[in-house]
Amino acid sequence: MGERLAPLISAARIRRRVAELARQIGEDQRDAPLTLVIVLKGATVFAADLMRQITVPFVIDFISASSYRASTRSSGTVLIRDRTGLDVRGHRVILVEDIVDTGLTISSIIETLRELEPASLDVCALLHKRVTGAAPVEVRYRGFEVPDVFVVGYGMDYAERYRNLPGICQLIPDG
Ligand code: IMP
Repeated sequence: MGERLAPLISAARIRRRVAELARQIGEDQRDAPLTLVIVLKGATVFAADLMRQITVPFVIDFISASSYRASTRSSGTVLIRDRTGLDVRGHRVILVEDIVDTGLTISSIIETLRELEPASLDVCALLHKRVTGAAPVEVRYRGFEVPDVFVVGYGMDYAERYRNLPGICQLIPDG
């Protein structure tokens, strides 16, 4: 299948919004210890920019979850890996995610992390898709709301491609 890309959110807009999110997090989360749990792999670019703008102390950890394979629709099942080393008991946790689409992935991760008894658990997602019938997820720190289209760039991929684009584009299948 061929495809083309249509620009959706520029690198400059992302930069400005990420700075605002970091400021907001710094203001809200003064009572450390704060842990940023970064959801692999799509949120890595966002998290790298976000964490360099957060001025309160924090530690980072990672969790891996996938509901998409080489497809542009959710597969409906979520696989969570790499949670064994997580020690967030009593910590304020912010889950850093690239995109909340159906909400299935983040809901599963929230469920998993709640078992580890953090003091608080908030979601920071760069993008929140407007999807009909999606699981209701509270995204305390939200970068942008986007329509229900498939997006790539700034860490987000289609079959592992396009993560290196500096801005976010809509991926449009040919034909
Ligand atoms: P959800 O479980 O449907 O909310 O999907 C969340 C995960 O699917 C995200 O963390 C992304 O990795 C991936 N995803 C959802 N929508 C897109 C998209 O438009 N582009 C790239 N990845 C996406």
